[in-house]
Amino acid sequence: MKGEKFYIATAIAYSSKQPHIGNDYEIVYADAIARHKRLCCRDVFFLTGTDEHGQKIEEIAAAANISPKESADKITEMIKNTYARLNISYDKFIRTTDGEHIESVKKIFARLYENGDIYKDQYEGPYCVPCESFFTPSQISASFGLCPDCGGELREVKEVAYKLKLSKYQQKLERYIESHPDFIVPVQRKREMENNFIKPGVQELCVSRSNVKWGVPVEFDPGYTVYVWIDALSNYITALGYNPDNEKQPELFEKYWPCDLHVIGKDIMRFHSIYWPVMLWGLGIEPPAQIIGHPWWLFNDEKMSKSTGNVVYTDHMIDKFGADATRYYLLCEMPYDRDASFSHMGFVRRYNADLVNTLSNLVNRTVVMAEKYFGGIVPEPCRPGEFDGELKEAAIAGAGNYAALMNEYKIAEAIGEILAILYRANKYIDETEPWVLAKDEAKKERLGTVLYNLLESVRIAGVLFSPIMPETSAKIFSQIDADAKIETSYESAFVFGGLKPGSKLNKAEPIFMRLDEKKILAELTASDKPR
Ligand code: MSP
Repeated sequence: MKGEKFYIATAIAYSSKQPHIGNDYEIVYADAIARHKRLCCRDVFFLTGTDEHGQKIEEIAAAANISPKESADKITEMIKNTYARLNISYDKFIRTTDGEHIESVKKIFARLYENGDIYKDQYEGPYCVPCESFFTPSQISASFGLCPDCGGELREVKEVAYKLKLSKYQQKLERYIESHPDFIVPVQRKREMENNFIKPGVQELCVSRSNVKWGVPVEFDPGYTVYVWIDALSNYITALGYNPDNEKQPELFEKYWPCDLHVIGKDIMRFHSIYWPVMLWGLGIEPPAQIIGHPWWLFNDEKMSKSTGNVVYTDHMIDKFGADATRYYLLCEMPYDRDASFSHMGFVRRYNADLVNTLSNLVNRTVVMAEKYFGGIVPEPCRPGEFDGELKEAAIAGAGNYAALMNEYKIAEAIGEILAILYRANKYIDETEPWVLAKDEAKKERLGTVLYNLLESVRIAGVLFSPIMPETSAKIFSQIDADAKIETSYESAFVFGGLKPGSKLNKAEPIFMRLDEKKILAELTASDKPR
């Protein structure tokens, strides 16, 4: 697999309002996956961006008395700034207002029309502006006429419109999902798609708007704009330079398409697993390999949402705790297939328990003891003694489990494996009592072995943490290796003994400092207002 391409793309966030941790979770999650794949020496292309057209943005701009472009520019700038603060390692940031994207979308729409996959008809039915979604009457029967996704009011739309012939691809879709069991993950997302949309028969999708001006114009029929979801989904191929009119598609497209992993929230799975493959088939392009629908961040038991306003802002978390603590909390609290509930108290407790007590204290105590007893030089490990085997086994087993979980994108669960290594190392300190060994010159050799084993456990944790908390990982490496020659490759995390005896350590410095729970909670609850 080394050297093989890996194309990963997140959903593109609406440039409508300041994003919250529910939106930013996705980019952090995708970033951890991208960094892990790079650690595995894959050739990664990581795409993200912003969704800047549509009725919602048009209305927000009108209310603020500015142009939709000015409004989108402001929010996109905010989003990019937050991503930079979170150390998101994307390779490309696409905006749907980019000229090249707009030109390709025009051609994509025209090509689907020429091929007979889009036809002109009449549309009448409910529409949700915050979700930019059309619904059929049967889809809203269980939600009492409100939007089944966000619970908001729906508007009646009646217009002459273009439609995408989804029914033509019903069988192809069924067969594809059946023959690609990992196309939609986790498995309950796949069942939802099959039971709610595919088995009842896919419904034609309205793909144009006649009264929304802020969109990509339909080239061959002035007065219409392309439905924002068709515009937005196309970003995954236009970002690679795709345009149906190209004689030959560019190298970037040839190299990276099909996408290996679309990372999206569970609420937009139907757009990605049904409409998107149909669009691609209509263009004669292969569908993506896999789509993962992550769960939601909740606040007070409801989906955290820009339209409801029950949100926590990522920037506020970074201001107070830094990028890595924010990344850590988002990643370790969200299980693979269940929603997570945000609480300020939960955050502070996690921070103190995992980052301060378990990680930072272990690194600090280990480096301080190596400074004090060995003058800041990595000691030579000698004959193994009591508890050494258990510590090494825990590290090797933990790294192996971590790798398997990361390969399935179960990041919270993989973090649990790093913590297990750290718990074992902390226990090893209590068991071996290095400060007692230090009192007896005859036990110097044993003391050296114990400290070597602790430093090595810390090094392995540093490698495994690198996709999760890149800054922290770099701080760990710099403390245990002043010469910057430390072995940090992924392979080295599976072998105990990568640290070179005789190499120099840096000065011990705590990586995370204990938070005063009461004080922080009072400050946090007072500060969550949008910028
Ligand atoms: N613009 C569309 C996506 C188009 S992709 C071709 C969109 N934008 S969004 O800003 O509303 O959402 C961006 C991502 O954040 C989506 O994947 C969405 O599922 C996710 N989330 C929005 N609220 C969320 C939570 N409360 N929790 C976790 N993810 C959430 O949808």
